[in-house]
Amino acid sequence: MKRIGILTAGGDTPALNATIYGAVERANSLKIEMLGLQRGYAGLLDSRVPHVHLNPLFTTIPELDPCKGGTLLGSSRTYLDATCTERLELVAQHVTKLKLDGLLCIGGDGTINGMQPIAEILPCVLAPKTIDNDLGLNYIDEPNDWIRRPKQGLPGYTEERNTSRDTLLREDIINYATPGYATAVFVVAQSIERLRTTAESHRRIAIVEVMGRQSGYIALGAAYAQPDIILIPEVPVNFEQLAGRVSQLYELQKHALIVVGEGVKNSDGHELGAVMPTYDPAGNVRYSGAADALGEILGKLLGANLFSDMRTFEPASSPMFSRKIGHTQRGGRPILFDRFYASQLGGKAVDLLADGETNEIATIQYRPDSGFVLSSISANKLRDQWGEIHPREVHPALYDTRRMQLSQFGIDYLKPIFTNAIGADDVECIRTQMFSAGSLSNRYQSVNTDIRKRIRYL
Ligand code: F6P
Repeated sequence: MKRIGILTAGGDTPALNATIYGAVERANSLKIEMLGLQRGYAGLLDSRVPHVHLNPLFTTIPELDPCKGGTLLGSSRTYLDATCTERLELVAQHVTKLKLDGLLCIGGDGTINGMQPIAEILPCVLAPKTIDNDLGLNYIDEPNDWIRRPKQGLPGYTEERNTSRDTLLREDIINYATPGYATAVFVVAQSIERLRTTAESHRRIAIVEVMGRQSGYIALGAAYAQPDIILIPEVPVNFEQLAGRVSQLYELQKHALIVVGEGVKNSDGHELGAVMPTYDPAGNVRYSGAADALGEILGKLLGANLFSDMRTFEPASSPMFSRKIGHTQRGGRPILFDRFYASQLGGKAVDLLADGETNEIATIQYRPDSGFVLSSISANKLRDQWGEIHPREVHPALYDTRRMQLSQFGIDYLKPIFTNAIGADDVECIRTQMFSAGSLSNRYQSVNTDIRKRIRYL
C-alpha cells in the first residue's frame, strides 16, 4: 500500500475530520500517501473534481483539524449502483489515473452499498460514521431475521422483520456506537434542557423532534435531559396512552416535554410527518414534520379544557409548541468520545487496508471487562439474504413501551458511551472561544477556501 484514497459520503457528522485525521496519522507512520477525494463518490466519478494531498512528506496538513465539525473533503449523496457499468468504468479510470492502491470510505449503510462494486476494482474499507447510530447489528445473525412477502396483486414485495431475540448482551452488538452519535445526543440534551425551563415557566407542552430516520437512538440518548416521554420510530405511537400520560403529567407539573424521533409511525405503520424521496446511496427518504403532526393529534385528544382550567388569565390557544432540533445535531465541535473513537476507527481502517483486507468495516465492540475495543467485520455480514443492508433499529430490549421511556437495558447501553464522553477541553473551549473578541472583527475562515489552495487537478 503506497497510496490510499479517502472520501466522506452521505450526510455529515461532527466527527468526520477526526476520522480523516486518525487515518492520515496512521498512514504517516506507515509511510502511505493519502489523497482526499472531494465530495464523496462524486469525486471518484468525475475526473474534474480535484483531490487533496493530505500528508505531503508524511505530515498531516494543518487544515485537517480533528476538533472541527464537518469534513474538509466535503460530502455528497451521489449514488453508486452496482448495475451501472458506465459509472464503474469511470471509477476504474479515475482510480488508475490517481494510482490508488486502496480506498477508505467514511460513511454509513448507503456508503457500504456504494463501496461493494468498487471493491471489485480495488481494495476498499469503511470507517463508520452517522449521527443516527444505525450502522451495525444488534447481534451477528440479525440480517437473517428479514423476510420478504410478495405484494398482494401488485409487483414487488414488502419487507418485514421478526426479532429473533428478546434479550441482548452489550457484547453482542456489532459496532456499538458510530462516531457522530454522541455529539448529536449532546446537542439534543442541551437543547432539551433549555426548552424544558421555558415550557415549565409558561405551562406548555413541548414536543421536540430529533433526527435519526427510522432509528430511535438519538431519541433514546435524549433521556440524559430527562424528557417526560420518549417516542421512537420502532414502536408505533399509541395515542390514547400518550394523551392519558400527558394529561397526568400536566396536572402534576403543569407542563410536559416529549421527545419524538423524526420517523415515528402510527399503528398502521405510516409516518406521522411527511416523507420525501432523496437521492442518496441508501435510497433514504427525508422526514419532516413529525412533531407538528403529533402536536395536532395530541391537541385534539386532550381538548382545550385541560389547559383553560389550569392557565387562568391566559388564553388556552398556545399551550403547545414543537421544535425541530434539525441540522445543529450534525454540526460543530465533536465531543471527546466522538473525536477519540472516530480517529481510532480511521486508523484501524488504514490498518485493514495495509493488512490486505477489502470490503471490510472497522468497528468498535464492547467488552464487559475492558470497555471498548477496535475490531472489524466483513460488509457482507451486514447484508440480508437478498444482499440488502438495513439500518440498525433500536432493539425492543432498550425501550420500555409501557412507560414510553428507556428500559433498564437501555440505560446500561448508553452508560459506556456517555459516561465521561465530554472532555475538559470541550468545556474549556466554550469558555475561551464562544465570546472571543477576535470573532467580532475577523471574518469566518472557511475550510473550503483554505483547501482550495491545496487542490490538485489530474
Ligand atoms: O442520516 C443522517 C441524517 O442527519 C438523518 O438523521 C436525517 O433524517 C437526514 O440525515 C437529513 O438529511 P439532509 O442532509 O438531506 O437534510
